[in-house]
Amino acid sequence: MSVVVDRIGLLVTNDPALGEGVLGIIRDASVVFERGKVVFVGPSGQVADERIDAAGRSVIPGFVDSHTHLVFAGDRSDEFAARMAGHPYLAGGIQTSVAATRAASTPELAGLTNSRREEARRAGITTVEIKSGYGLDAVNEKRCLQVAEHFSNDTTFLGAHIVPAEFAGRTDDYVHEVCGAMLLAAAPHARWIDAFCEVGAFDADQCRAVLTAGRAAGLGCRLHANQLGHGPGVQLAVEMGCASADHCTYLSDDDIAALAASTTVATFLPATDFSTRQPYPDARRAIDAGVSVALATNCNPGSSYTTSMSFCIALAVRDMRMTADEALMAATLGGAQALQRDDVGRLAPGKSANLVVLDAPSYTHLVYRPGVPLIHQVIEAGVTVVAPSI
Ligand code: NIG
Repeated sequence: MSVVVDRIGLLVTNDPALGEGVLGIIRDASVVFERGKVVFVGPSGQVADERIDAAGRSVIPGFVDSHTHLVFAGDRSDEFAARMAGHPYLAGGIQTSVAATRAASTPELAGLTNSRREEARRAGITTVEIKSGYGLDAVNEKRCLQVAEHFSNDTTFLGAHIVPAEFAGRTDDYVHEVCGAMLLAAAPHARWIDAFCEVGAFDADQCRAVLTAGRAAGLGCRLHANQLGHGPGVQLAVEMGCASADHCTYLSDDDIAALAASTTVATFLPATDFSTRQPYPDARRAIDAGVSVALATNCNPGSSYTTSMSFCIALAVRDMRMTADEALMAATLGGAQALQRDDVGRLAPGKSANLVVLDAPSYTHLVYRPGVPLIHQVIEAGVTVVAPSI
């Protein structure tokens, strides 16, 4: 059965060959899809088996959230409140989530992850990456990835998130475990491997060992890099050919030059910098130097408990000096590039029919009207997963 979304006031295709500018904008447009794939984008007035009337609203590609930690149990709002009262974010709170996650049953974890995935859908996120990282032993990392793979094709083994309490003071022994028994248990359920390269977590050599082992097990590499300070993370991500270096809150000139000369995407997570009172990354300098960028929510219980990509876009424009066009592109096509996905992030024939209808005449309203729920309808692989409220 074919479906047409008709009378779209402004359609973002992200394909410059299909419309105006880098966003490939078509005005007074329609999108036709069949069996979950786009088959036509062009002028309004197309005919199909089913018709959805956008009534002049704008339509954008579904958001691609390339960095989340959706599988966890427990609550850390007290830690957040303490932080707002002046305590720094040191990532030690991860241990609290590890204890709660280990104690939760698998059905409980699945239920919690499902609620968060649904919340993300209501925020317009049609593609999501999900990391483990709150299990931190072979049994629990595998369990978290088994939950994650119900919700995403882009699951990431993050055994090297932090050293769990039982390995305190024995980081190298834990890295050995991550690269051995844990990787063996996790790899069948993961597409990617990741590590947290930061003082207090893992150093460059330890992260290199983890990524190298993951790659040998057939996983693609990504890295948490330069979140809490300057360090070797970005350079390591480039050296290892990571698909993405995530956070990039602290970027030196050399880091920017290395990213610009590489295929590694810099994934900015501004809701984290908001929630941890860190400075925002210098996205303007990175983009002007030719770095490919993505925006993601980093939904997790410690440093960024939000599924709102609209909020991330607003921060990127307001505080990171990205244009609205750049921010929208980073939250859609940029996320797809960070996941090395060619099937999402664009609305063009052959691509997945992932569309968000905004209750606004243009995507600029995502920034212009911060905090206002503008997501009117969400279509994922051709199916309405968020219906308009009447
Ligand atoms: O990406 N930085 C490491 N991991 C998460 C935070 C996890 C937590 O605090 O629970 C992040 O910000």
